[in-house]
Amino acid sequence: MSIIMKLPKDKKVIVERANKVVYDCGDSVIKVFNSTKPAADILNEALNLARAEQAGIDVPELVEVGKTGGNWAIRTKKVEGKTLRQLINEDPSVDRMTEFVELELSIHAHTNPLMNRQKDKYTRMINGLTEVISEATRYELLMRLDGMPNHSKVCHGDFVPSNIIVREDGSMCVCDWAHATQGNGAADCATTYLHLKLGGEDEIAERYLSTYVERQGCSMAYVQGWMSIVAAAELARGRVIERDFLLSMIDVVDYY
Ligand SMILES: Nc1ncnc2c1ncn2[C@@H]1O[C@H](COP(=O)(O)OP(=O)(O)OP(=O)(O)O)[C@@H](O)[C@H]1O
Ligand SMILES: [Mg+2]
Repeated sequence: MSIIMKLPKDKKVIVERANKVVYDCGDSVIKVFNSTKPAADILNEALNLARAEQAGIDVPELVEVGKTGGNWAIRTKKVEGKTLRQLINEDPSVDRMTEFVELELSIHAHTNPLMNRQKDKYTRMINGLTEVISEATRYELLMRLDGMPNHSKVCHGDFVPSNIIVREDGSMCVCDWAHATQGNGAADCATTYLHLKLGGEDEIAERYLSTYVERQGCSMAYVQGWMSIVAAAELARGRVIERDFLLSMIDVVDYY
């Protein structure tokens, strides 16, 4: 039996997507998923959030997980502020790249041995691409993944400006832990780079990549080594509009 979650009448929609709606409910935020979303995904997202909090990361407080109108929902305490995405859009002339990258690196500085393992997740996703890429390419990607260094850093998995809430005092809180794992920070960096490219922000994507490499002290090639793997993982999410771009990133494998 699940807890019945009450949605207030005066709630406001923050975002509406194909498979979910996020509501501002005054002192809390409720993310309501549609009925096609498996319960395991919702429970995993809530567990990731709890584990990120346990690791000592500044995240919205988890209030409850339950069902509303037959749909699974997660309620978190509302964090007052604006998303980094809003701030960038309001004033693109302010350079926020260093704080964005430093925040990501500060997440990577944490560990939580209970989080799902990044390599296991990517392996499952690549193995699921039977209809999309050839067996030879899947094999190549899995071999490459296998050869990547094993790390156990907390990785957000969708570290983009819309998932960062900046409070009035400038402190930053990271939401949306649906894709979090423990693993290699460079894979997280490659994922952010791809998301920025997919969002059409090419110049920002390149600047992000060079800032990450500089601040982290790794080589560009090290992050690029993850690119084909994370592109395949993104492809496994099945968003049709992104397919050609992601396939072109995976092609890199064949020309190395
Ligand atoms: N606890 C919270 N406090 C304040 N705002 C929140 C909170 N949780 C979510 N939000 C806001 O709701 C938006 C959507 O939530 P979330 O990122 O969890 O869902 P999403 O469907 O992945 O959205 P997107 O695809 O835009 O990233 C966030 O970008 C943020 O603006
Ligand atoms: Mg989000």
